[in-house]
Order: sequence, then C-alpha cells, then structure tokens
Amino acid sequence: MSGKAGRISAALRRGDFVKDRDFDRLLSAELRGKSQSFFSSVVVAQTAARWLKASGRTRVLDVGAGVGKFCAVAALTTGRPYVGLEQRGTLVAEGRKLVAALAAEVQLVEGGLADVEPSTFDGFYFYNPFAEHIADKYERIDDTLECSADDYLRDARTVERWLRAAPAGTAMVTYNGLGGRIPLSWRCERELRLAGNMLRLWVKQPDAEASADAYLEVEDRLLPASVLAELVRRSPRASIEDGLVARLVLPEDP
Ligand SMILES: C[S@@+](CC[C@H](N)C(=O)[O-])C[C@H]1O[C@@H](n2cnc3c(N)ncnc32)[C@H](O)[C@@H]1O
Repeated sequence: MSGKAGRISAALRRGDFVKDRDFDRLLSAELRGKSQSFFSSVVVAQTAARWLKASGRTRVLDVGAGVGKFCAVAALTTGRPYVGLEQRGTLVAEGRKLVAALAAEVQLVEGGLADVEPSTFDGFYFYNPFAEHIADKYERIDDTLECSADDYLRDARTVERWLRAAPAGTAMVTYNGLGGRIPLSWRCERELRLAGNMLRLWVKQPDAEASADAYLEVEDRLLPASVLAELVRRSPRASIEDGLVARLVLPEDP
C-alpha cells in the first residue's frame, strides 16, 4: 500500500474519522470534483456500515456503487466484505484500483439490477441511485447514459420486488431516499440527518401483514404511497415528468 492510501486505510480500520478531502485525493481529478455531489461522505458510510453490522448483516450490496467509496469505507470500518453493483464501466475500473490501493475487501460488479441475485445478500445500501434517470443533465455524473422516467420506474419497481421477496431480518440503509416504494413490511428502525440528508436503517419484519401499499421518502418525511396517491389525485398539477409521481405512488402497473 502506498503511503497516503495506507494511512487512510489504517485510520478507517481503527474507526477514526477521515476527512472527505483526504479520502477524495485517492480519486482521479475528474471524480474528485464529483465526489461531494455523488458519493457518500466518509461519516455517512461509517455510520451506515456500523448500523448494518449491529443489525447482524454480513453480505451487503451497495446498489449503484459509483467509484466504490461507500464500499471501501464500509469494508474497512467493519472488517467485512462488501459488494458494489455499478452500471458505468469507467467507475468500476477506477473503483477496482481504489479498493486495491486501500486493501479493502470489496468486489465491484459491472452491470445493472439484472446482473445480481438479490437473495444472496442480507443487507443493501442505496444512495438514491436512480435519481439520475430523471435529473437535469447538469446533475448527472456524466452524459454517457440514456436517461428516462421509464428507466427510473423500471429500476424502482425491480427493487420493490426485491424488497417484497426478501426474508424477514434483511436490512437496508437508504441515504437521501431509496427513490422508490418501500413495502410496509419494512420498518424504519433508525434515522439520522447526516451531512445534509436523511440516513435510515430499515429491517424487514416477520409476519408482516400483506399490503400493496408502501412508504415513500419525501424529503425528510415518510409517507404511505396511498396518502400521496390521494394528494396527486386531488391535485393533478403535483405530477411531474410524464406523470412519474402519479405512476410511482400506485402499485405496479398490471
Ligand atoms: C449517487 S451515486 C452513489 C455511489 C455510491 N453508492 C456511494 O455512496 O458512494 C449512484 C450510482 O448508482 C449508479 N446506478 C444507478 N442506477 C443503477 C443501476 N440500475 N444499476 C447499477 N448502477 C446504477 C450510478 O451510475 C451512480 O454511480
């Protein structure tokens, strides 16, 4: 391990706080400038990883791993392996160099949601990964991907199916929202406003009543989708992006 990466890796293993400015010096100049907007800060990753460890989860997937910053910090903080899924090959390539430099036990998988088997994980981390699909082009990591509201809905629906199928005890941390419907069979057990956004720990409950309804994280609040659906019904002007909100709040299209 080189001097700088070695010092950061050792500090994270000890559980020390590391400044984002110092961690981000391990990134290429281009990604360093994007880290603050698109990658978890060190304190968020440390906190989320500690929550997941305390909930007993051992096989955690970061859905939309970017350059692997969350995975690297989480793996070094907890001494447990992490897996990251990332659709952009350029980020995966740089991320693999980053985790190697830090000697962090992280596997970065290049691909989309269809390229992983969710049942092999007992924990998930989501830093609002699908938001880019509906973001203004200046609010995207780069312009290499076609983005659309349909892609957003497809990914959000897929994750909702993962969450419905997950066994009781599966845990998930969302930061700045999952961006989709969270079935009522999941309970928010911890929440903390950190580095400007809400961090939440969710756990799938045993014997939860079957319900097609779901939570949506709206800014800092949790709202049942049925309540939001009623608001949208009463105020059609609330729907945006081809009625995306109106489509998202309802259970899956038949
Ligand atoms: C906000 S960044 C978060 C990065 C990382 N989780 C972190 O906290 O440092 C979201 C990432 O998710 C990726 N992403 C979005 N949708 C995805 C999908 N369907 N499959 C794989 N990666 C996806 C984006 O390319 C982007 O790199």
